[in-house]
Amino acid sequence: MTPRGLLRAAALAILAATLLGSALPAPGLAAPEPRADPANRAQVALGQKIYAEHCAACHGAHLEGQPDWRVRKPDGKLPAPPHDIHGHTWHHPDEELFRVVKEGVAALAPPGYKTDMAGFGGTLSDDEIWAVLAYIKSTWPPEFQAYQRKLSEGAKAR
Ligand code: HEC
Repeated sequence: MTPRGLLRAAALAILAATLLGSALPAPGLAAPEPRADPANRAQVALGQKIYAEHCAACHGAHLEGQPDWRVRKPDGKLPAPPHDIHGHTWHHPDEELFRVVKEGVAALAPPGYKTDMAGFGGTLSDDEIWAVLAYIKSTWPPEFQAYQRKLSEGAKAR
């Protein structure tokens, strides 16, 4: 090959690599489906049943929470917050929500913190906890789901 021919071949190879690189996702970089997956219908259906049975009494049949949920009750404890977009569930990454449900709020709060949110680790399996989170997430509008998913992926990478 002439030097010119070599140059041309190299330029073509670089062009091809650039085009391919932008067309194909880098292997191993695509985020895996979350363990609480709002697009997984079977998981969401299971979560909906668990929610009705174990969570709705406090957090509301429509995830609306208890009235005046920001104001402590006379016993010093907070009412149950909503899990819809008016609460702040969607501000928390998956791993944190999972821990709250499994271990209860007290496990993550300063010592002596009084709360009505007990852990469900003795009642629900890990899969059931992920399912209830998938259900809660499935009720959010797409942009809230996308925001919370980014947050969860960021939290995992740390
Ligand atoms: C006995 C009432 C009660 C039940 C039943 C209950 N919760 Fe809660 N939950 C609460 C209260 C009260 C809080 C706020 C606790 C605090 O900050 O002291 C809370 C907080 C939470 C939070 C944290 C929310 C946030 O924005 O920080 C999550 C997540 C949660 N609950 C999920 C669940 C799930 C899922 C279930 C069912 C498996 C459930 N809860 C059942 C009362 C309850």
